[in-house]
Amino acid sequence: MMVVVVDLLLMLIDLFCSILRAVVQTVLRPRLKSIDGELCLITGSGGVLGRLFALEIAAEGAHLVLWDCDTAANERTARLAREKGVRVYAYTVDLSRRHCIYEAAERVKREAGDVTMLLNNAGVVAGRRLLECPDELLERTLLVNCHALFWMTKAFLPQMQTKNHGHIVTVASALGLFSTAFVEDYCASKFGAVGFHESLTHELHTENLDGIKTTLVCPYIVNTGMFAGCEIRKELCSLIPPLDPLYTVKQSMNAILGEQQMICIPRIMYIAVLARALLPWEANVATYRFMGGDTCMLPFIKNVELKTSNGQLKS
Ligand SMILES: NC(=O)c1ccc[n+]([C@@H]2O[C@H](COP(=O)([O-])OP(=O)(O)OC[C@H]3O[C@@H](n4cnc5c(N)ncnc54)[C@H](O)[C@@H]3O)[C@@H](O)[C@H]2O)c1
Repeated sequence: MMVVVVDLLLMLIDLFCSILRAVVQTVLRPRLKSIDGELCLITGSGGVLGRLFALEIAAEGAHLVLWDCDTAANERTARLAREKGVRVYAYTVDLSRRHCIYEAAERVKREAGDVTMLLNNAGVVAGRRLLECPDELLERTLLVNCHALFWMTKAFLPQMQTKNHGHIVTVASALGLFSTAFVEDYCASKFGAVGFHESLTHELHTENLDGIKTTLVCPYIVNTGMFAGCEIRKELCSLIPPLDPLYTVKQSMNAILGEQQMICIPRIMYIAVLARALLPWEANVATYRFMGGDTCMLPFIKNVELKTSNGQLKS
């Protein structure tokens, strides 16, 4: 009985200290770690956020391994990053195929060395109504946004474990913490990504691998074109505007270098997360209706339909 009481007291002290630390870190800027000389693998590095992450990380002195299925876009990121004076290895990889991930991982180990930072950033969304969406597109979202996290971790965690040193970043989404209508594939994949990330983080703690850090990044809509057209009620748009991509990446970098476990961007998103956890479902529905959150994806889906009918959409 005595042991339980002592453990309870220790747990309460830990709990209090972690809350205090979080409050202090919110007010004061946390000390940022150096990643000079690390080898960082970024997926989706040909995309908007992926490219900005690559340039920010190169500016910190880390060498880069860049993975994307879009060779031309990835090569452009590689060229820009090399201008920062770091080593850059670019690979064309289809993350929806497990064997491609494992094959490319072997090449990386041979050609670039041990990856010490993994930034799982690649992501897709079907952008169609569930019943009108080809099964393959729905499946692709789950494969790229969620399944790939398993294969990436299995491929690169062992090297980090050996040295008890590394950092795994998961770029999920606010839609991995709460949901909205018409993006079932995306929400399912990002909720999956959040669950995967949290379970992995617990595992690393339980195994005393405290040298391997993790950071979960959950942004609201970012102006990258991924959700082009998506908007909440017009009058509220200025209160929660779509995020600037560079701002999103800078905020994420502060969280990563400050070894923060999780970041929601902007901070107001934490209110939505709390509301989902604390309020009855109907109360959340009422606030969604008021804010236009329930139908915010419809203009985006219309956009995708238009592009598809014009034959512009990449498969
Ligand atoms: N844009 C937003 O509103 C927003 C909001 C929250 C979270 N996010 C997340 O941020 C991340 C980056 O998004 P972005 O807005 O920069 O998108 P983006 O479309 O500009 O970039 C995504 C990149 O992933 C690559 N990719 C897609 N499928 C791939 C595959 N099978 N194999 C390899 N690479 C593949 C694409 O080629 C592209 O370069 C994604 O995970 C996304 O879900 C985006």
